Amino acid sequence: MARHRPGTTAVVTRNKYEILGADVPEETLFKGDLLVASLSESPRSVNSIYYYDDAGSRLFERLCHEETYYLFRTEKDILSQHASSIADITGPIFIVELGSGNAEKTTLLFDAYLKEHGRTSYAAIDINRSILERAAENILSVTTDLDFLGIVGTYQTGLAQVANLIGPKLLVCLGSTMGNMHDDELHDLLLSARSALSSGDYLLVGMDLDKETKILEAAYNNQTAILTNLCVLQHLNWRFGGDFDLFQFRHVAFHNKSLYRMESHLEATQEQMINLKNLNFSLHLEKGEMIRTEIMRKVELYVFHKLLGLYNFRPVQHWTDSCQQYAVSLFQLGAEPTELES
Ligand SMILES: C[S@@+](CC[C@H](N)C(=O)[O-])C[C@H]1O[C@@H](n2cnc3c(N)ncnc32)[C@H](O)[C@@H]1O
Repeated sequence: MARHRPGTTAVVTRNKYEILGADVPEETLFKGDLLVASLSESPRSVNSIYYYDDAGSRLFERLCHEETYYLFRTEKDILSQHASSIADITGPIFIVELGSGNAEKTTLLFDAYLKEHGRTSYAAIDINRSILERAAENILSVTTDLDFLGIVGTYQTGLAQVANLIGPKLLVCLGSTMGNMHDDELHDLLLSARSALSSGDYLLVGMDLDKETKILEAAYNNQTAILTNLCVLQHLNWRFGGDFDLFQFRHVAFHNKSLYRMESHLEATQEQMINLKNLNFSLHLEKGEMIRTEIMRKVELYVFHKLLGLYNFRPVQHWTDSCQQYAVSLFQLGAEPTELES
């Protein structure tokens, strides 16, 4: 079993993995008041957390295998080539993953760590409990040398639990997940990551790099990307008693070059009134009005490394593919105070 200090309630399942936080009420993770606020402001938006109910998570997995969605296979190739170097650099360590999803790519790290260092502990943090269970079942069906701990929660609630895990840690954030965060969210995440870790601990981040509009827009405009985006409305309908009609919205994804990001939106194809019964909230949309559902940052590597440096995460090494489309960067948390603290 993964090592964590007593005092946290864990559910130990039949297949010998633990899930923490499964008893946390969903209302504390999916906050209706924040949704109402984001739908009321201009521009209207929905947090990308609403992509990942069970149906949305399955669609995301399908998107990862779309021909034009180069991100998944490129990151996977980088990890398959360099996982053993990463394991060499960090030495034996407790792997903790933020937004693990089904952890398909992380298995490449497990293989390297198990080979180089033997039995390894892994904690996966994700908002979706079923995906954690699915990841655990899949991983443990091929190895019994990994101690799996699932932590159901947001990045913030999950990271608060990480301080209870014993030993040096490698915090992993793949899938360009940091790219889905707005500046304030990324700032909060990096502060929480820094508090959850100790100096000398590592952070491994996969990020998509800035590139040609044509390649970017093709990745986010295939059939699965369209379905995944529309599925956000279905999630809001079941969770909050909503009456969004999916046929009255159009998927729009475009490259916002000046902000170094792709954006996904849903555009109302006619004027309409939406009710979210459980939140006692109504929304009037004009024809053509957009709701932004996700941002996907496309970074310049030196800018990203500089940003993480502000939080005391020092670049150790990075790996890219031969076309420089994607990067996986390893950072180590320094001991000295940073510019943010002075
Ligand atoms: C972009 S996917 C990446 C999945 C996987 N790491 C990969 O590389 O394929 C983001 C994952 O983070 C989870 N997630 C999204 N927002 C979250 C949040 N605020 N807190 C915790 N998990 C979240 C989703 O359920 C999903 O599994």
